[in-house]
Formats: sequence, structure tokens, C-alpha cells
Amino acid sequence: MDDNKHRNVKIRKAKGRPMLTWVGKRPLSTVKAYPAQLVESFSAATRAFENCEAYQSDWPDKFEAGGLLFHGDNKDVLAHLLANGFRGKVKLIYIDPPFDSGADYVRKVQLRGTNGTTKVDGEEYTLGEQIQYEDIWANDNYLQFMYERLMLLRELLSNEGSIVLHCDNKRSHFLRMLLDEVMGSEKHFKNELIWFYRRWPTNTPSFQSMHDNLFWYTKSNDNSHTFNKLYEQSSERTLSDYGGKRLTTVETEDGSFVKRETEEVSLGVPMRDVWEIRREHTRSSEHTDYPTQKPLELIGRLITSLSNEGDLILDCFVGSGTTCISAQKLGRRWIGCDINKGAIQTTAKRLHKVMLEQAKAIDEDRQSKLVEDENTPLVKIIPFNHPLSPLDLDDLRKEIERRPEEERDITIVCLGLELKARAWVEDYNRTRPINKINIIELRSDRKYGGFIKHEPLVASVSIKRHKNKLKVTINDVYSPSIVQRLNMDDGLFLPRSNR
Ligand SMILES: C[S@@+](CC[C@H](N)C(=O)[O-])C[C@H]1O[C@@H](n2cnc3c(N)ncnc32)[C@H](O)[C@@H]1O
Repeated sequence: MDDNKHRNVKIRKAKGRPMLTWVGKRPLSTVKAYPAQLVESFSAATRAFENCEAYQSDWPDKFEAGGLLFHGDNKDVLAHLLANGFRGKVKLIYIDPPFDSGADYVRKVQLRGTNGTTKVDGEEYTLGEQIQYEDIWANDNYLQFMYERLMLLRELLSNEGSIVLHCDNKRSHFLRMLLDEVMGSEKHFKNELIWFYRRWPTNTPSFQSMHDNLFWYTKSNDNSHTFNKLYEQSSERTLSDYGGKRLTTVETEDGSFVKRETEEVSLGVPMRDVWEIRREHTRSSEHTDYPTQKPLELIGRLITSLSNEGDLILDCFVGSGTTCISAQKLGRRWIGCDINKGAIQTTAKRLHKVMLEQAKAIDEDRQSKLVEDENTPLVKIIPFNHPLSPLDLDDLRKEIERRPEEERDITIVCLGLELKARAWVEDYNRTRPINKINIIELRSDRKYGGFIKHEPLVASVSIKRHKNKLKVTINDVYSPSIVQRLNMDDGLFLPRSNR
């Protein structure tokens, strides 16, 4: 791979005001896109780990499932994606950047000089600054780091797309300002979600901190973003008070507010912005040793709500791979990236497990469909211009003999049948444990047939003249159709022995 080969990728200006500023703040108008290190590409279609080289021509449009896993600094990987057809293609970005330690977000670069004052290619800060977390923080490089990634991420979002940034309360105020600036405030900001979890209390002279903050912004400002409404259980009281209906305040065309009956309460109440979700505890099958692992349920909820099946999901701080796992399980395509090799290994291991489970499920499904097919009887329809005869049955026998590998019953559909044909079938079935013949005779079969031939009413009538009038007496009426129908339903008119 020739690292000097690059393309310049243009980045649009940030959107909103007011802005947060810091020492060394600089916008990102272009980035250099180099070939990125794609570690693995997963295809659910072939249920295999694909040749990594093959993806560029096909992704993202021609792939219906699967994903791409990159190892490297996400600034490079995002620039690479922008230069390779992914601009405007991502429906949901979830990021959970490091927010407490600087060591792991430091960019690993090749320096041309040897001492700590050498400037890094394309960056303002020095090697010394890069490896000293305190210096980095003092120089506000964390903010610059996040600012650049957010600007690149915005370019990858589709018009219906969303970005969710996961952070804690130490950095949330800074990151919210950055998001306002890059994504636009007001109409682009949708929610601050609080993820509430329980853990062992710590010895601190303040209240126990047991929540994280997630900021959700949309690319569009006109509510055209994807949002699948989620519900949570209604309380018993709501269910009994409102008897199944809900009153919601809605704005009408003239700008006034009215209460309207909307969804059924049985769906539950529309989900709140505070989510209590358990962390992946050590006994959970999803638990990894990755220290900052987030619960599958948390990310799954975001993916379910903010994207649809087949959409592309991106996480460029993927850690233990929770976003890729969740997307893969929920039938979305995904892109994952991390700078840390251990993270890539953990993610790949988890993905292999999910892909194998899915492959197994697909195989089992196919197997059961095959069994179902085998249990479906072979159906032979005899032309309705004649009743079933032994000649038809001889032809059928030849047909069965041509398919010795098939083990399934045969259903004959006919209109009328000769007595000899019935005897033929009884004789044939007597000797066979499998491939038995069943007959559906449409005129008499109660389940499938039972249609009747309509014949005119027959009546016995006497007519007498009385002065200048005619007296018509109906002595008896007989409807062959009604009699047929009654016979079919209850056998009322059949001799007792035939019922
Ligand atoms: C808080 S963890 C993400 C945890 C993840 N959400 C999970 O459920 O496991 C942050 C991750 O960002 C990665 N990271 C930090 N700086 C990065 C960079 N410049 N490029 C790519 N990944 C980076 C770290 O290696 C770490 O794995």
C-alpha cells in the first residue's frame, strides 16, 4: 500500500451558533484519504468472511447484509470511507468515544524526526504533546479530536440519518456544544437520553453517579429522519382509567393545541428518555473483558428505533464490537473501526460467533422447509370432463414409479369417480405404508369441494278455471339443488345405511 497516494476529501462547514472555542481550534475543510486497513468483511449472504479486497467495488450499494471492520485511527478510516462512495449512505452513527483517558485516542503516527518536538504530519501538536495526556487535555486537543471526527461523521450521514453520541457527565456539556455546532442545534437535536444503571456504590462525598448521557441529533431539520416509535408498558392505572385509548396534545393547523385520542394504550406508553438497562454482568453470555463494553440492549434499542432493516450503521469507536453485533443480529449492515488491536480481536471473535449462530439458524430453517416440502402431498388433478377411472390411476402409478426417491402421499382431485376406480385405490393403499392415495371428489368432499350442479326446480301443479279466473294449486315442489346441498351437509336424504 503506497501511503503517499491519497485523495483530498472536502468537508462542509459546521452549521450552528453559538460555538465553543479552544486553543488551537481549526475547522476541517479537507482531509487526506489514504487506503485504510480493512480487517475483515462479513457477508451474511454467503455466510462467510469475504475477501477484503473485493469490498470496494461492491459496498455499500450492492451488499444487502454483513459488514466491514477496520483497524486504525478513525480519522483516516472516515476519510477513506468518504473517498470511496460512503458519503450520505449511513443511517445511524453510534459513537462512544473515550471520555476519561486520553491515552487510547492518541493518534498513532509515523514521525519523520526523532525527538519529541517534531511536528506530526498534518497536525499542530508534537509527539511530546501526543503522548502526555495532561498536555493534550491542557491544549484542548480532545475537543479538536472530537470536532474533526464529528465533521467527518456528519458527511457520512444520509438525509434520514441520525447520530447518537454516548458520553458521561464530565464531558457532556462540551460535547453537546460541539454537536450543536457541527450538526445544528434546535431542529437537529432530538433527545438527551439518560442510560441509568445500577452498580456498587463508591466511597465519594457526593451522590452516586449511575448514569451516562446520550445525545441524539438528526441530519435533517424537517423531521424526515427515520424513527420507529418504541413503547413501554402502561401502568395498571392508565389501562383502567382510559379504557384502551390515550389522549395526546397535538398542534392543529391554526397553531392551537387540542387533545386527541391517539394510539391504543395496550401498545404501552411512548418510551421515555430515561432508560434503565442492566450492564452486561460477568455471567451474561455477551460479557467480554473489554472494560468499557456497553449493553447490547441499549444499542439494540437505538438501532431498532433509528434505522430499518438493511440500513447501514457505523461505529468508529467500536471497542468490544457491541454496535456491530447488535446491527448484525437486527439485520442491518454495519461498519466498525477501532485503533486498538485488542478491540478489533474482541469484535471479530464476537462477530464470528453471531455469524455462525445465524448460519446455523438459516441451515435449520432450510432443512425444515425441505422436510415441509417432503410432507406436502403430490397433487394430481384429473380433467373434469370425465370421472376418475382405472385408466387414470394406471397412468398415475407409472408417474409414481418414475419418482422412486420421493416419500409422500398423493392426492387426486376429480369430479366424479367410477366404482372400479375406488376399488383400484383401496387395493393400492392396502399394500403400502407410504405414498398412499387420497381422493378429493369435488362433488361430495365436504372440506374442499361440495359444489353442486344447479338444476331447475320441479313442481307438480294443477290449474283449474273458475269463471273468468284461473286457480293454480302447487301440489309438490322439488329442488334437486337443495336436496344435493342437504345431502352434502347432513346426509338427510340418504338412506340410513349410507349416512
Ligand atoms: C469507550 S470505548 C467503546 C466501547 C464500545 N461502545 C463497547 O460497547 O465496547 C472507546 C473505544 O474507542 C477507541 N478509540 C480511541 N481513539 C480512537 C481513534 N482515534 N480511532 C479509533 N478508535 C479509537 C478505543 O480503542 C476504545 O476501544
